[in-house]
Amino acid sequence: MSRIAITGSSGAIGGFLRPRLRAAGHRLVLVDSAEPDELAPGEEAVTADIRELDALAAAFAGADLVVHLAGHAQEREWPDILAVNIDGTRAVCEAARRAGVTRLLLASSVHAAGFLPTHPAVVGAPAPRPDTYYGVSKAALEALGSLYADRFGMTVISARIMHATTEPQAAYDLGGWLSPDDATRLVLAALTTPNAGHHVVWGVSRNTRRVVDLGPGAAIGFEPVDDAEHWADTLGGLPTPATADRLGGDFTLASHPLGEDWRQLDL
Ligand SMILES: NC(=O)c1ccc[n+]([C@@H]2O[C@H](COP(=O)([O-])OP(=O)(O)OC[C@H]3O[C@@H](n4cnc5c(N)ncnc54)[C@H](O)[C@@H]3O)[C@@H](O)[C@H]2O)c1
Repeated sequence: MSRIAITGSSGAIGGFLRPRLRAAGHRLVLVDSAEPDELAPGEEAVTADIRELDALAAAFAGADLVVHLAGHAQEREWPDILAVNIDGTRAVCEAARRAGVTRLLLASSVHAAGFLPTHPAVVGAPAPRPDTYYGVSKAALEALGSLYADRFGMTVISARIMHATTEPQAAYDLGGWLSPDDATRLVLAALTTPNAGHHVVWGVSRNTRRVVDLGPGAAIGFEPVDDAEHWADTLGGLPTPATADRLGGDFTLASHPLGEDWRQLDL
């Protein structure tokens, strides 16, 4: 049984990781600025902002792994991205170090590398080519992970998550879906890999139509199982992005809003 601290545990991914990690026998420390819903046996909650370094270090004490999910999960104005996604991730890494935690799983995004061409399929995990300010923050997250791994001998996995949902919802998901069970497998790989250092992996299921490489994940023991192809009949007829030749799809268009809060746009 291990102790796993999860930042952003009240969000979508945290919501489907929690029961699965509990079922695998792990104790969870849930860290979020939002109050959690009802706690299950084996869970404890810490309500804190990820920029509160002392509170984070206390929450992380005794953890075998920190899973860092908290932050803006979409495009925002630059000051918000900088404050929460970049300063916040720096604080998470530093708090983990101060708490003596040696393993970190950082939620990067496909948007850290949205300008990578999809034909031919991506090999390995190339250097970032962000498609938004949000993507820049995830490239910074990867750089912070690299710094803390190299400087302090930590094991840090930066997972470029494509689209994590309970079920595939759009044509894009036929290639990009990360299932809840495979997301859990990713966490367990980060918990157990014997390979120290920084590793950038693709957070994606074993989808028949994936255009990214499962090799970097396999190198840390992440072996996804699920395949969105089971939903091909229902999703195959839906529109695909106009710019499917880039990993970031329509997010790579010059006309796509940059640095604007999408919740306030009529897209
Ligand atoms: N869901 C996806 O498909 C996807 C794809 C790529 C990357 N990601 C990344 O995975 C992570 C989790 O995604 P999600 O879909 O669960 O996001 P989400 O928006 O559902 O959840 C984010 C959580 O972070 C918390 N949070 C935000 N700012 C905080 C702060 N300053 N201090 C403490 N807590 C704070 C929120 O309260 C929320 O519970 C994010 O970092 C996101 O960028 C997600």
